[in-house]
This record gives sequence, structure tokens and C-alpha cells, in this order.
Amino acid sequence: MKFSYRFVQSIYLAVVSASIAAAAPAFEGALKHATTQVRGVPGSDLIVESYHPPSLFETFGVNGGDHSLSDRAEFNLKDAAVSFVQSRLGVDAGTIAHRTSYANDVAQHAYLQQQINNIPIANAIANIAFNKANKVVSFGSSFVKPSTVPSTTPSISADDAIAKAEKALFGTYNNHTTSLQFVAQKDGSLALAHVIQIQNNAKAQLYEAFIDAHSGELVQLTDFGADASYRVLPITKQNVTQGFQVLTDPQDRLASPFGWHSDGVNTTNNTSGNNANTWVGVSGNVTYQSAPHLTFNYVQDPSQQPQTYEPNVDAARVNAFYLVNTVHDITYRYGFTEDAFNFQYSNFGKGGAGGDQVYVSVQDSTGTNNARFVTPPEGQSPTMYMYLFTLTDPWRDGSLQNDIVVHENTHGLTNRMTGGGTAACLQTTESQGLGEGWSDAFAEWTEQTNDVVLDWVTGPYVLNNTAGVRHYPYSTNATTNPFRYGDLQTLTEVHDIGEVWANMLHNVYAGLVADHGFSPNAHTDPTTTGGNTVYLHLFIDALALQPCNPTFVQARDAWIQADANRYHGSNFCTLWAEFASRGLGVNAANYTDDTTVPAGCNATVAF
Ligand SMILES: *[C@@H]1O[C@H](CO)[C@@H](O)[C@H](O)[C@H]1NC(C)=O
Ligand SMILES: *[C@@H]1O[C@H](CO)[C@@H](O)[C@H](O)[C@H]1NC(C)=O
Ligand SMILES: *[C@@H]1O[C@H](CO)[C@@H](O)[C@H](O)[C@H]1NC(C)=O
Ligand SMILES: *[C@@H]1O[C@H](CO)[C@@H](O)[C@H](O)[C@H]1NC(C)=O
Ligand SMILES: *[C@@H]1O[C@H](CO)[C@@H](O)[C@H](O)[C@H]1NC(C)=O
Ligand SMILES: *[C@@H]1O[C@H](CO)[C@@H](O)[C@H](O)[C@H]1NC(C)=O
Ligand SMILES: *[C@@H]1O[C@H](CO)[C@@H](O)[C@H](O)[C@H]1NC(C)=O
Ligand SMILES: *[C@@H]1O[C@H](CO)[C@@H](O)[C@H](O)[C@H]1NC(C)=O
Ligand SMILES: *[C@@H]1O[C@H](CO)[C@@H](O)[C@H](O)[C@H]1NC(C)=O
Ligand SMILES: *[C@@H]1O[C@H](CO)[C@@H](O)[C@H](O)[C@H]1NC(C)=O
Ligand SMILES: [Zn+2]
Repeated sequence: MKFSYRFVQSIYLAVVSASIAAAAPAFEGALKHATTQVRGVPGSDLIVESYHPPSLFETFGVNGGDHSLSDRAEFNLKDAAVSFVQSRLGVDAGTIAHRTSYANDVAQHAYLQQQINNIPIANAIANIAFNKANKVVSFGSSFVKPSTVPSTTPSISADDAIAKAEKALFGTYNNHTTSLQFVAQKDGSLALAHVIQIQNNAKAQLYEAFIDAHSGELVQLTDFGADASYRVLPITKQNVTQGFQVLTDPQDRLASPFGWHSDGVNTTNNTSGNNANTWVGVSGNVTYQSAPHLTFNYVQDPSQQPQTYEPNVDAARVNAFYLVNTVHDITYRYGFTEDAFNFQYSNFGKGGAGGDQVYVSVQDSTGTNNARFVTPPEGQSPTMYMYLFTLTDPWRDGSLQNDIVVHENTHGLTNRMTGGGTAACLQTTESQGLGEGWSDAFAEWTEQTNDVVLDWVTGPYVLNNTAGVRHYPYSTNATTNPFRYGDLQTLTEVHDIGEVWANMLHNVYAGLVADHGFSPNAHTDPTTTGGNTVYLHLFIDALALQPCNPTFVQARDAWIQADANRYHGSNFCTLWAEFASRGLGVNAANYTDDTTVPAGCNATVAF
């Protein structure tokens, strides 16, 4: 059935003004994934950015390579490793400490550490492997050339440092012997630090704190906490037929500084956390970790009904939890932050009102073959109602069709960001239609994975129909999808109107990707420059600019202005050409098509 199943968004009627706390410390800026790790500390607002110098890495193929001690009769792993690093990096043997080595059935491994005056540099490590013929097969190094080296005599005692670490980390020194180490800093300098283990029993955390032995500041933090892992359908995939994967630590620590299971005070071991609470039936009916250390590994059995408790209910809850958290983290990076009215239990003092993580009711009993999202104003939790689809045997679970979950979640984004958090500014039919369009468009964004912009449909898995739930695939091809602005004269249902907008945005997306290419890291790095990154910036920036209950014309103008604000209008002509190609040109009004572009622009679309 082609047109029968709609993702109805339910409308929240009450108009309540949001109370917005003063904006707090900015917490933005590019995160260099490769070299830094941002961590929040439970119980405090403290955010620690730890630096890890970039590692070089060389490999030497099947036969391996020679090294300076190759022609010695006796092979000594430690000597060969130290000598190799010395010659490769041009450093003194005195700056290299051998930490440990071992051999297995295929290789011999040595691990070395850079040191100065016999004090190790904690984050400057080298590792070398030799094959069984004693040829070098790989070499990795994060050794540094420090710009400055502080005095090796501490200005503050280890005891004082312990007190500072306990205070900063809300924990207790565990009596593990402290040490003095250097830490390479982002600015090229070295810091001398007392290294202290702090345990936080209540939260099952164990940290290694590096307290600067001269300034007393916390300069680096090692978190010995376990990684979280989830067996899910990665957000870039659409159907379960494309394969579940176990993702380890998918959380983005800049967006979710305490991970997905902690609000900074309490930590859960279930599918409830600061951004989302995912259950079946009642809100405490969550999935617990399947193994210690936040392991959520439930293998979905497609031959069983989705309501089969073991393992399908758990697989669905975990997938929905993962998706809502991932959408939180992606949109956070692009501006849906605490002070932009996002959904979090704790806002960590960064503005906005907390207490509004997304409630996700998986396999909700109030409907079938659909999904709903109810968005109250800032400070109140929205609820996502995910239903079962009964059109196949066995039935299918909407929580495993990634684009439905993302579509629903996007209603929250657009309702909160339009009009400043009241969730009362997408109420007209036209603006609700835009809302449906954004929801499809963002779901599509998550599933386009390279610079070949494919036609896209939503819902194929739950319907077991490659045509999905809409009239046409989203496409740059006007035969495949003929929708134009003028169709609003006859379309009255919000999802139908949404198809017109989503298809315009598909064309905008294709135009921007044609101009700028595709950034594979756009999900976590908004500083990338691909067309997909540009698109998501404009998408989210425009939401905050547009007026309450926007029209298509106003929503388009918000995109043009968003581009002016962020990119100095460098995409002006591309945006106009794409909108105009679907009838939303300069003189479009009253649902009458116009294909005019501004003077100086080329009406021919880019792709
Ligand atoms: C550390 O040692 C002191 C003195 O023996 C003891 O009182 C304290 O409980 C120990 N702390 C921990 C966390 O084991
Ligand atoms: C943490 O848990 C305690 C005990 O359940 C509860 O009283 C408290 O409100 C929670 N605090 C936060 C910030 O979640
Ligand atoms: C699991 O989630 C519920 C909320 O749904 C929460 O109250 C509870 O504390 C969590 N359990 C644990 C062990 O953290
Ligand atoms: C984790 O979950 C189990 C239930 O599966 C609960 O009994 C236990 O107390 C929880 N542990 C922690 C540390 O929260
Ligand atoms: C909890 O979830 C299970 C599994 O889906 C379900 O059978 C049960 O009815 C739920 N319990 C409540 C109280 O909703
Ligand atoms: C899905 O559709 C195909 C034919 O298009 C059919 O062979 C298959 O049985 C269907 N699967 C389910 C679970 O209904
Ligand atoms: C699965 O997903 C692909 C790619 O998104 C889509 O083309 C295909 O129609 C889907 N297949 C089914 C059976 O849902
Ligand atoms: C557009 O789609 C139609 C119908 O599928 C096809 O015949 C035509 O070749 C397509 N045009 C382009 C430019 O790809
Ligand atoms: C659109 O309709 C309004 C109200 O009828 C009218 O004032 C306006 O001139 C129309 N605009 C265009 C471009 O036709
Ligand atoms: C307009 O775009 C078309 C197609 O990309 C190109 O051939 C033409 O040269 C462009 N004209 C101008 C004035 O840029
Ligand atoms: Zn919808």
C-alpha cells in the first residue's frame, strides 16, 4: 500500500513560555578527534580536555624491513627496538625508556616511552614490531619535540596535588603510589605532573589525574572506565538486512560529556540516560546491560516476532536508545545545544532548561504502522511513540527502521528551534508540512554515505516495499519526483506538503555536494567542508532564524540568510538555483511556481 501509512506527528496544544536560564560557558569549537579527548567529571561541571600527540605509523609489508642492528648475530628485541627509534627519529638513546616487550606466534613487540632526565613523558609512546625473521614490520610513535621543559623540581608536594585531585574529581586517592611524569601539551610545551589515581566509588570511576607540579592545575586525565558498546543498526544504514554491528563508544563526548548513561551525578546501566530513556510499556521497563561495563549486545532474531522478549525487545530498545543519543550528539555539534533548547535531563549549567530528555516508548501499544512524536516546550520531556508494523509476517519493529526513529526525533529539533523553545511555532498546516519535510530530509542526510547522491525513500523495511511510504522517492530527477511548490495548491495533508519540501531539500543537498564534495566525518566534525556538512549547518542555522509558523518562502529565505551568516553567501546561487528548480524562485508566492533566480545567478542547477 503506497500512501496509507504516515508518520503522524501529534500536536502539542498548550502554549507555555519557556524559562531560559542565562547562557553559560561556551563549550564549542572544533574538537580534534585524533589528538584530544574531552571528558566530563561526574559530580562537577569540570570538562577536561586531554591531549594525545599525533602518532606516526609505518608498516613494512610481508617481508619486513632492515634495521640498524639487522646484521648482528644475536637478535635482542629491546636493543633492536631502542636502536631503531634512535635512528628513525634522530634522538639520543637516553631519551628512550624501554617499557615492556613480548612475542606471540607471529611477531615480537616492544613498547618504549620518551623520557627527559629519566622522567617519562606520559603521552609520548613508541611501539615497534619485528617478525619472526627479526625484520621490522611496523613502527608507531607519538614522541614529541617539546618547545619548553619545566624545572624537574616540583613546586608543590605530592600530598598537595592529591588534595587538589580529590577536590577536582569528587573522589578519593586510592593509595596507589604516585609518580612524577611529564605530559606533552597541545601548545608544544611539557608540563611536569604528579600522577595520582582517584577513585569515585559511588560512580564506579577510576581516574589517573595529572596535577601540574608547578601550577597545581589538572592538566590531563586518564579515564580507566570501560567503554560502552551496543549491537545496533548503524545510523547510516536503513534496513536490518544491511546488518547489525557492535559499536564501541559511539557517544560523542563533546555533545554528551558524561556519555549516554550518566547525568554527571547518577549513572545507569540501562537504556536510560541524560539524553534518552528508552523502554517498553512503562518508563522503568528498560534494557539492562547484557554484560558488565555497559555492554548491550542482544542479537535480533528476524524469524521471531518483534515482541519476543529475548532477544528482540532488547535489540529494539538498544537500537532506539542508540539512535536518539546519536541524533542528540550530531545535532548538538551543529547547534542544537542546551541554550538552543535541546533535550537533556541535565544541562550541566550550560544554559536552557534541563529535565527534558527524550522518552522513547518502543513497541508502544497505542498504535501500529506508524510513529509519533510529541514535543512540549523547553524543560519538559518529549515522547517518541514507536509502533510495530503489522504488514509482514513476522511483524516488523519501527525502532529498527532507522529513518523512522530519526524522522520522529527531528520533529523535536524543528519544534524546539523554531521560535525559541516554545514548541508552539510549527502549528499552521504549511509549517507542519515543512516539519514533515525536515524530518524526512534529516533522516535522509544520515543515510547518504558518499558523494553519489542516491534517490532516497523512507520506510522500506517496515513495509517490505522498496517504494517506501511516500508518493515518490526524493530525487533530483523531475520525472522520478515531479513535486513543485505549486503543488501546494492541491496538497492539503501535512506529510504530502512535507514531501514537496523534503524533495526541495534533497535537491539543495545534491547541489551542495556537487559543489563541495562529501565529508565522511560530518556526523562528528562540523568543521569539515563537504556539501553534506554545509547542508546540515544551513539546515539547523535556518531553524533558529525563521519566524514562527514559517511559510515555504520564509523557510527558503532563512536558508539563504543562514548561508550569508555562516559562509558569507558563497552558496547563494546554488541555493537559489535548487529552490527555483522546484518552483520556489524569487517571485514564488501564494503557491504559484516561479523559477527566477537573482540577477547574476545561473538558473541551471549544479548537479
Ligand atoms: C589509604 O590508606 C589510608 C592509611 O592507611 C587509609 O586510611 C585509607 O582508607 C586508604 N584509602 C583507600 C581508598 O584505600
Ligand atoms: C540521583 O539519584 C538519587 C537517588 O536515586 C536521586 O535522589 C537524585 O535526584 C538523582 N540526582 C540526579 C541529578 O539525577
Ligand atoms: C534504570 O533506569 C531507570 C529509569 O528508567 C532508573 O530509575 C534506574 O535507576 C536505572 N537502573 C540503574 C541500575 O541505574
Ligand atoms: C545493574 O543492573 C542490575 C540489573 O540487571 C542491577 O541489579 C544492578 O544493581 C546494576 N548495577 C549498577 C552498578 O548499577
Ligand atoms: C515490560 O516489557 C515487557 C517486554 O516487552 C512486557 O512484556 C511487559 O508488559 C512490560 N511491563 C510493563 C509493566 O509494561
Ligand atoms: C517481503 O516481500 C517479498 C516479496 O517482495 C516476500 O517474498 C517476502 O516474504 C516478504 N517478507 C515478509 C517478512 O513478509
Ligand atoms: C533496504 O535499504 C535499501 C537502501 O536504503 C533500499 O534501497 C532497499 O529498498 C531496502 N530494502 C528493503 C527490502 O527494505
Ligand atoms: C529521470 O528518470 C526517468 C524515469 O526513471 C529516466 O527515464 C530519465 O533518464 C531520468 N533522467 C535523468 C537525467 O537521469
Ligand atoms: C499573494 O496573495 C496576497 C493576498 O491575496 C496578495 O496581496 C499578493 O499580492 C499575492 N502575491 C503575489 C506575488 O501574487
Ligand atoms: C550556467 O550553468 C551551465 C551548466 O552548468 C553552464 O554551462 C553555463 O556556462 C553557466 N552559465 C554561467 C553564466 O555561469
Ligand atoms: Zn512526521
